[in-house]
Amino acid sequence: MAISISLTVNGAPISASIDPGTLLVQFLRDQLRLTGTHVGCDTAQCGACTVHLNGRAIKSCNILAVQAEGATVTTIEGLAQNGSLHPMQAAFKHCHGLQCGFCTPGMVMSAVSLVERQPDLTGDDVRSQLDGNLCRCTGYHNIVKAVLEGAKGMKSAGTASASADAATTATAAAPATA
Ligand code: FES
Ligand code: FES
Repeated sequence: MAISISLTVNGAPISASIDPGTLLVQFLRDQLRLTGTHVGCDTAQCGACTVHLNGRAIKSCNILAVQAEGATVTTIEGLAQNGSLHPMQAAFKHCHGLQCGFCTPGMVMSAVSLVERQPDLTGDDVRSQLDGNLCRCTGYHNIVKAVLEGAKGMKSAGTASASADAATTATAAAPATA
């Protein structure tokens, strides 16, 4: 039996009818066609599916879409404003913080949430706080550089702030070695 949900996604009000067992990532990708949110494992380990739920980074393969009823969701498609990349996106591009790019949307979403919570970061902070986001390509060195540069960019843009609600999705233990 289908169930109705209403939520805000990337600033737009959305109402939809879904199967109650639909994961949030399935809803975003298959129903809303927001395919920038990736599925790497489907078991809450890789972080490729990271989005913001009410300002907090979460793994969208790990919750049901109905749990987002009434919530505000931001995906990677919602970060750029007026055609300009978010400072964290720009930093990943500038620092070559990616190779194939599969992990990148989740990395960026987690990094933005991290900087909002902890604007003053060290490289060690980035490695430990983003250990729930896995990259199979880069060896992490440029990702760490990108997050540090992105943090500076967010501070300059006034988008880095210590938010009590913001938190990273670093729930899966995995080494992020440079
Ligand atoms: S697809 Fe969600 S953590 Fe891997
Ligand atoms: S850039 Fe390929 S998985 Fe991270």
